[in-house]
Amino acid sequence: MKLPSQFYKPLAIGAPAPFRELPVRTERMIHFFPPQNEKMRAKVPDLISKVDVILGNLEDAIPAEAKEAARAGFIEVVKANDFGQTGLWTRINALNSPWVLDDITEIVSAVGDKLDVIMLPKVEGDWDIHYLDQLLAQLEAKNGIKKPILIHAILETAQGVKNVNEIAAASPRMHGMSLGPADLAASRGMKTTRVGGGHPYYGVLADAEEGQSERPFYQQDLWHYTVARMVDACVANGLRAFYGPFGDFGDERACEAQFRNAFLMGCSGAWSLHPSQIDIAKRVFSPEVNEVLFAKKILDAMPDGTGAVMIDGKMQDDATWKQAKVIVDLAKMVAE
Ligand code: GLV
Ligand code: MG
Repeated sequence: MKLPSQFYKPLAIGAPAPFRELPVRTERMIHFFPPQNEKMRAKVPDLISKVDVILGNLEDAIPAEAKEAARAGFIEVVKANDFGQTGLWTRINALNSPWVLDDITEIVSAVGDKLDVIMLPKVEGDWDIHYLDQLLAQLEAKNGIKKPILIHAILETAQGVKNVNEIAAASPRMHGMSLGPADLAASRGMKTTRVGGGHPYYGVLADAEEGQSERPFYQQDLWHYTVARMVDACVANGLRAFYGPFGDFGDERACEAQFRNAFLMGCSGAWSLHPSQIDIAKRVFSPEVNEVLFAKKILDAMPDGTGAVMIDGKMQDDATWKQAKVIVDLAKMVAE
């Protein structure tokens, strides 16, 4: 239900930049760590040099009895480290949980000047973003925080998917969105116990080739529809889209395949929940050298971006020039 605007008018709505200025850096992986765990906290300095974004997770996967310790551990580790160019995020608990108010007030008051982004789970509509937006505005004002903290929504309920466009447009504080395939599967009543990736039963039977006794079965991407909706909603509002978690840490090929689909469909990055997934994300979300070289050929052949040329037997025009620019710009950003 949308709250009537006469009762609730978020301060930041309609505010001019700098809210919309997303970091000009790659965010190929958002690396999760559990801050209540001392051993994991000790690894943070090393991780800072390895990942694009580091995120202290306070929500799912943190047991109820460790919620306070996770929050305190996050504050401790943030105070103790310089994050340099590495993005610093936290995933707070859901807005209807008993922990979230303390998550927001304690973290923003203690380390809000260092925090880049708050990831908000289980977002169902723009009202969730308005609530957090307003609360952040109050806490930033109270604590003299000059750089606005951005909001990243997890798209992981059927209601959220229904309202994806409104969520993306809800506030100039919006950074982007991640697909949350585990919660979304539960919310939709999908019959799976997996965290992201494909499913052996979700596919199509191909026609049999001559001499083939069995018709081959091809798995399809369960998340295609949602990723496409999310990318369109994000890009239309100047935001970044991300694939979320891949839970089978032992299956690196399947993780890479899922990340690659997301990359091709327009996502900027994915979550890494295990160190092995950091390199997978780096590899997948950085353009390949051959692609970059070919894209550069297109840009060089059409200096003003108009017209039509043939390169290696393939037609290029204004539209492929724009495609090529996406790839070359990303390559430059990765190289910086
Ligand atoms: C992530 O939070 C998910 O539910 O997949
Ligand atoms: Mg979730």
